[in-house]
This record gives sequence, C-alpha cells and structure tokens, in this order.
Amino acid sequence: MPPKTKTAFFCQNCGVESPKWVGKCPSCNEWNTFVEEVIVKTNSKQTVGTNGQEPNKPQKISEIVTSEEKRYDTQNAELNRVLGGGLVPGSMVLIGGEPGIGKSTLALQIALNLKNHTTLYISGEESAQQIKLRGIRLNSDNDRCLIVSETSIENIFSHIKNTQPDILVIDSIQTLGTQNVDSAPGSVSQVRECTAQLLHFAKESSVPVLLIGHITKDGNLAGPKILEHIVDTVLQFEGDQNHMYRILRATKNRFGSTSEMGIYEMQSNGLREVSNPSELLLSSSEESLSGVAISASMEGMRPFLIEVQALVSTAAYGTPQRSSTGFDLRRLNMLLAVLEKRAGFRIGTKDVFLNIAGGIKVNDPAIDLAVIIAVLSSSMDISLPKEVCFAGEIGLSSEIRPVNRIDQRISEAEKLGFKHIFIPKNNSKGLDTSKFKIKIHFVSKVGQVFQTLFKQ
Ligand code: TYD
Ligand code: MG
Repeated sequence: MPPKTKTAFFCQNCGVESPKWVGKCPSCNEWNTFVEEVIVKTNSKQTVGTNGQEPNKPQKISEIVTSEEKRYDTQNAELNRVLGGGLVPGSMVLIGGEPGIGKSTLALQIALNLKNHTTLYISGEESAQQIKLRGIRLNSDNDRCLIVSETSIENIFSHIKNTQPDILVIDSIQTLGTQNVDSAPGSVSQVRECTAQLLHFAKESSVPVLLIGHITKDGNLAGPKILEHIVDTVLQFEGDQNHMYRILRATKNRFGSTSEMGIYEMQSNGLREVSNPSELLLSSSEESLSGVAISASMEGMRPFLIEVQALVSTAAYGTPQRSSTGFDLRRLNMLLAVLEKRAGFRIGTKDVFLNIAGGIKVNDPAIDLAVIIAVLSSSMDISLPKEVCFAGEIGLSSEIRPVNRIDQRISEAEKLGFKHIFIPKNNSKGLDTSKFKIKIHFVSKVGQVFQTLFKQ
C-alpha cells in the first residue's frame, strides 16, 4: 500500500506547524504566512531507539573522553576569529546575509584557499561555469576544490560518497530539496528536512558543513527560525550596498564567543581582509571639521577607533528631526535629553543627524562620549583638535561611567598617533598610566569635558 500523504500548514516566517490553515500565525503574529505542504507519513513502526542505531550509553561527565579538538584553519584570519579559532570538525555553520552582500564570494574564496583539503562546493543557484567565472575573478585556483551545481539532496549525498570531501559548502540551503518531501524547495519542511540530513552527515563524518542562507527583507534568516536552532554557528554577513565594507558577525556560536567580528572590503577581485579597521574607519581629511569626534571603541576583543559625525542645525519645521545611522536612535534621543536636562545645552529645537563613518553599526556603549562631543562640536561650530579621542558611557545624570578594556583602548589610540584621550574617572583604579605616552584625561561629568575642550 503506498504511504498515505499527509499535509500540514507551515508558517513560512517562523516555521510553526498547524493542522489547519490560519490567517495569523499564533507564534510570530505574521499574517497570511501559512502554506500547505505535503509531509511524508512517517512509518509508524519507526520510533526512537529502534531506527537501527545503537543507543548511546549515559556516562559520567568526568568519564567522557575528549579528543583534542583540532580546528581547520580557513586561511582567513577574520573568519577564524569569528568562528572562535577555526572551523570545528563536524560543525554546521550557517552564513546568512542579504542578496549580493558576498556570501557566495566568501564561501568560494574559503574553498579555493584551503589548498590542503578537498572541498566540495555545491551550488543550487549558479551553474558550474558561473562559479568558474567567479573563480577567475578571484584570481585563485585550487585543484582540490570540486564544484557541482546540484539541488537534490539525494544526488548531493552520492557526490559526497564519490568525492569524500574534507569540507562541504552548500550555496544555498533554500535551493535544496529532497524527494521525501513533496513541497517546493525553500519551503519550511524542505529546508528542515535537508538541514536535518546534512546535520546527520556532519556529525557522523566529522566533515564541517558551511551552509549559506538567505535573509528576508526585515533582516531575519529567510523562512525558518528552526535553521538557527539546528546549526552550531550562525554568522551574519552584513554591510551596506553603497559601502565597500562587509562585516561578519557571529550571532550564535557553540564553539566560541559571539562578540567577535570580522571586517572585509569588497574589491574587484574578491573580499579582502581588513586587519586594521581603524585606519579604514577614520577619514583622513587634513582640515579639522566641526561635528566630528573619534571614539576609542571595542568590538569583541578588538579595539578600533571610529569616527562619529554629527550635524546639528535649527529645525526647519515644527518638530525637530533626529536621525542616526549606525547608532541606536533611542540611545541618541536619550543622550540629547541628558545634554538638555542635565548639562543645560539647548538642543531641543534643533535637528540632529548622526552618522558613524564607514557604514558600520556599533554596539559598544563607550561610544556615548564621542557622540555627545560630536553633537556639541557641531552645535557650537567649533572643531576639535585632530589628535583627541574619547571613550566613556554616559549615564542618565550626565555622569561618565567606566568602560571595559580601557588598557586596550588607550594602547590602540596611542598606536594610531593620538595625543589625548578622555576616559572615565572611575577607570583610573588599577590603571598604570606611566606606560602610556598619550595624555590621559580622567573625566567624570560631561560638563568637565566641555570645559576642557571648548572653553579655553
Ligand atoms: P555574491 O557573492 O554573489 O553575493 P551573494 O552570494 O551574497 O548573493 O556577491 C555579489 C556581489 O559582489 C556583486 O554585486 C559583485 C560583487 N563582487 C565584487 O565586487 N568583486 C568580486 O570579486 C566578486 C566575486 C563579486
Ligand atoms: Mg550567492
């Protein structure tokens, strides 16, 4: 008797399953996202533990033997750092990002650079010729990188069997389909099934799998959130189409920290690693302009200096505008309120525009001080000396709060030729200032910085 087909409705946004069609997803509250998909009726005889596999034996944690985990060096320092020190064998890494951001380029570059390993690059989006053209563009060649254009998971497993790769790259998971599931590639049940099969392969064979995933308009990984739960590491590749910089961030990592980020620059011959981001993020104009302040910032373990630009002008219409690129708008509003209420600067009727140079987004609270100084500098139209930088978080009563890793911030500022740095007074404890040549100003209130800089 042929197996009875069973269908269910899946939310294409979050992956929730429902036996009936519903208009509004009870889980993610999206409308009209439910689509009927055919799912195979699982063989009722097959239950957990009886699927032909030996059940695992429970062990004491002290008795579990670990082999020294040897990571693959991807020959790409930025990626290695984001992964937490290289690619872990048997891990599944998902790289998500908007179309055209450079996911395929990054994956191919890694595959071509791994000269000592066999990589199988499976593309469901491009033909082998198109990938070859990209390879020519990247100006790199590797005989151990095998390319195949394929979308059926069954065929992919036979390719794996024939080629025995050390590393598997799938571009992209949304294009794959398995015969076991009747719905279209990219649908929730297809993605879920294919990912599960690949995960099983990765864990069984210790071959790391690099998955590329699409992203929806609102910035989530397309379709199923479930993908993020299944994989070990989720990397977001982000950046601005208009800027050449691309940032790789880990949003989930079972084998490392999620605070690291990698910076790349998209060039005509592929992605170049940016190992010293400060030089790139500081604009090198000779004349000093008002409204520009430099922040000694950290992203993960890495210090770098970024330029904060502000423009304050009298509001042309009734309600003043506040706009911010690369910095949280609510945080900007809070800082402006602090300036207004606690430090007595009248900017309530002014338009304020803020921009972090280079098109990157910053989460480090220590950038607050530079934001406030840039706003004040623009508001008063007084430029700051070029060799000054800042680090400090601002509290609601305009106090400057201590920040982490102050040593590294100061060293980086000194390395880049800055002569003065303003840091929170509370950071002075335990800080050996004698080892720095840069002049360190300890400040505890916004007013104090203002006095030093603008009222000489
Ligand atoms: P791609 O890797 O195809 O993006 P994704 O897979 O994320 O959709 O990258 C496409 C963009 O990158 C495209 O707009 C052209 C640009 N690009 C370069 O600027 N230089 C290069 O060497 C390559 C290969 C691509
Ligand atoms: Mg692509």
